[in-house]
Amino acid sequence: MTELGLYDAMSSCRAVRRLRPDRVPDDVIERVLQAAAWAPTGGNQQPWRIVAVRDAGIKRALGDLYQPVWADYAAASRRGIAKLDEARRDGVERTLAAGDYLADHFGETPVVAVFCFSPRNMAITDAGLDRPSVVGGGSVYPAVQNLLLACRAEGLGCVLTTLLCIKEVEVKQLLEIPDDWFTCAAVPIGYPLLRGHGPLSRRPIEKLVYSDRWNQRWNQS
Ligand SMILES: Cc1cc2nc3c(=O)[nH]c(=O)nc-3n(C[C@H](O)[C@H](O)[C@H](O)COP(=O)(O)O)c2cc1C
Repeated sequence: MTELGLYDAMSSCRAVRRLRPDRVPDDVIERVLQAAAWAPTGGNQQPWRIVAVRDAGIKRALGDLYQPVWADYAAASRRGIAKLDEARRDGVERTLAAGDYLADHFGETPVVAVFCFSPRNMAITDAGLDRPSVVGGGSVYPAVQNLLLACRAEGLGCVLTTLLCIKEVEVKQLLEIPDDWFTCAAVPIGYPLLRGHGPLSRRPIEKLVYSDRWNQRWNQS
């Protein structure tokens, strides 16, 4: 395998939802799991676990849970894009079509990495604020991103999904997750059916980064 540079991996690691059912070798899976384990967490507590699902029956059951949740989400999105101009509508429709494919084939994905977390071991420094708390996620999602990037480096397709959290009760029961652990992402992993990863569409840093003060444009010089 040719080594992919880190920046090349980051700038081409996009959501790949059309995956082949072909088996992924265990050593490859182990490398991407190891990449997840290298991620930083608050106080180095590593308050996350992955249930790496390869069992066909369990994957099918996860797919059965994912499908209707995706269908509701996709129907709402399709209603929402009706008023967009044609070019933007087409773009979103392409993404939704890929999402439909994933939902229909979720259970055939070679591996689904279900990320779980335990809030007990998290330093959630924004928990007391009068706004949605996000800091706890910072002790899990870097591990998810490491795994996505490692998949990219291995030529594997993958996508971070969170819709299954809506079915957390059922997922916990299915995967025998303890009462004090919860779910936060499910990443289907497999070799891409089509082109897989590629160029990203993202806002330029000038639109995302300010210099010293909010609304003060980032100065590149
Ligand atoms: C927090 C989060 C939740 C997401 N949940 C889902 C999901 O449930 N299903 C899905 O198909 N994609 C999901 N995605 C993938 C995003 O839709 C995707 O990363 C985004 O549209 C950018 O796509 P691109 O990387 O192909 O440009 C999620 C991504 C993030 C970061």
